[in-house]
Amino acid sequence: MTYTMAELKVFESWYEKAGVRSTPRRLTPQDQDILKSFFPKHIVPHLNHPLLEAQEAPLKRYVEAQHLYQWLNFTAEFEVSVVLRATQKIADNKSGLELSRRIRMDAFKICVDENYHALYSMDAVDQVEQRSGIKSLDYEFAPFLARLDGVADGHPQHRELVQLLQVVVFETLITALLNDVPKDKGVITLVRDIVRDHAIDEGRHHAYFAAFFKHLWGQLSSSERVLVARLLPDIIVQSLQPATRAARTALSQAGLSDQAVNTIIEDSYHRDAVMAGIVYASERTVALFQECGVLDVPGAREAFAKAGFPQALDA
Ligand SMILES: [Fe+2]
Ligand SMILES: [Fe+2]
Repeated sequence: MTYTMAELKVFESWYEKAGVRSTPRRLTPQDQDILKSFFPKHIVPHLNHPLLEAQEAPLKRYVEAQHLYQWLNFTAEFEVSVVLRATQKIADNKSGLELSRRIRMDAFKICVDENYHALYSMDAVDQVEQRSGIKSLDYEFAPFLARLDGVADGHPQHRELVQLLQVVVFETLITALLNDVPKDKGVITLVRDIVRDHAIDEGRHHAYFAAFFKHLWGQLSSSERVLVARLLPDIIVQSLQPATRAARTALSQAGLSDQAVNTIIEDSYHRDAVMAGIVYASERTVALFQECGVLDVPGAREAFAKAGFPQALDA
């Protein structure tokens, strides 16, 4: 059962427990640690492709490091450009919803957390670059953001509502990565440490945004509910698109031929496999929507099923 906003207590201990308040700056040890994996390979499809596996170790290491960099760069940009964009409005009482002062203060705490996550993601890029000698390729967040925001293109009057929904979706997803990385002793310590810190904060954020969605849904008109129910599947799908553009660039820069790059990307990110990953990652989010009655709105089940969420029809 999802808490209501009035019942939400997780931020009462924020001053003692938030990563930004209770953990030191995470540093790369100056020993052999940097020789470990940059990222758990098993959760990154293109890193396991036989065409890449057949390459020399330094080339594979380069591509793996670039995956870590793109993930850190993505995280840093996403926290600020998407999560903070909407959460700061909640904190400032500009979300269009009626919210208590405590709920707005909790949003402020989330803003502080997310800014800190962005900061240590960038700090990790710098530290790993310096210690490994592998430079991060330039990262471009704009195409991802354009696709994510593009969901609202036909509904300009609801742009800000869509921005709130983006955060609800992203903050309630199951990010297997946040649970897997800290346990993986084969991964460099700095990455394990920051992912562990991040996962603890995100546990609180998850509870907040689940309760927030319940509240938001309760304040929507019936026509807004129909619109939201139809936009949510697209928001989920766009939020979880794999970073194939960055993977392509990394593989090309590593020296693989265009043909090899195409084969690796096409084999690794086949549409059905990508969608299966999206369905898995959004199970909890879709369950939240179901609990709130989103799927009972006319046309909602069909919209979810059409977007590739077959479980919506069995619900
Ligand atoms: Fe975060
Ligand atoms: Fe968060």
